[in-house]
Amino acid sequence: MQQIHLRDTPLAVHTRGRGLPLVLLHGFPLDHGMWSGQEPLAEHLRLIVPDQRGFGASGGAEPESIPQLADDVIGLLDEVHVTEPAIVCGLSMGGYVAQHVAARHPERVRALILVDTRLEADTPEARAARRDLAGAVERIGQEIVAEAMVPNLLAKSAAARADPRRPAIEEDLRRAIVATPVATIVAALAALGERPDMVEPMRRVQAPVLLVVGAEDAITPPECLERAQGVFPDARLLVVPQCGHMTPLEAPATFNAAVLDFLRSAVR
Ligand code: MLT
Repeated sequence: MQQIHLRDTPLAVHTRGRGLPLVLLHGFPLDHGMWSGQEPLAEHLRLIVPDQRGFGASGGAEPESIPQLADDVIGLLDEVHVTEPAIVCGLSMGGYVAQHVAARHPERVRALILVDTRLEADTPEARAARRDLAGAVERIGQEIVAEAMVPNLLAKSAAARADPRRPAIEEDLRRAIVATPVATIVAALAALGERPDMVEPMRRVQAPVLLVVGAEDAITPPECLERAQGVFPDARLLVVPQCGHMTPLEAPATFNAAVLDFLRSAVR
């Protein structure tokens, strides 16, 4: 792990491998560890995997907005001396951040990979639910988020539950959530609720786009990514069976093969 310093906050980042730079942006309220199944990609690519501000080992300032987290990605790329356009990949919250990187800094994006995420802003109901959750976290602590989220993060079918890795995956997710500072969770929930709708900005993305979603994703179901496919000028969509909201963690081999196949045909 490397600790770098952006304008106003430290950032922990894991880098491995060589080749085209691939930035992996984690979901809420997790850290770089959710990408552990993507380590084999370091044989082909230069992996750049941060803990976004306030999360994991980054500590420091809390996130204020999704566009701010996108600008952090550019600061991070500068700090690790990546000047060529990068492949930017994000899951859920990380996918919102990746969309803003593509909209705000198109010249830094070689390709965009959006995983288990959506383009649309929150509905008023979703925003209210985030406010309720933030209040509960302030009163009770991070455990309440782990309780609310972990059962919904993973696929629920019998076949998916039979995966022998399942108990360890659940425990890792729970551990990452309860290790996230309350202030980060509360600030991130506000940032998530306030994030702008990205449907129109995404129509202008020139870079090739890969969309990936778990067939059993209960948080951003396949319809979200099917709608997104109709928005981008050039996007392919992969729906992965027996996966929920954490496709790269639930089916790492399928996910990694899809990334390499996409990069071979659309980018190189
Ligand atoms: C995530 O997985 O990053 C969150 O569920 C995103 C969200 O709440 O919109």
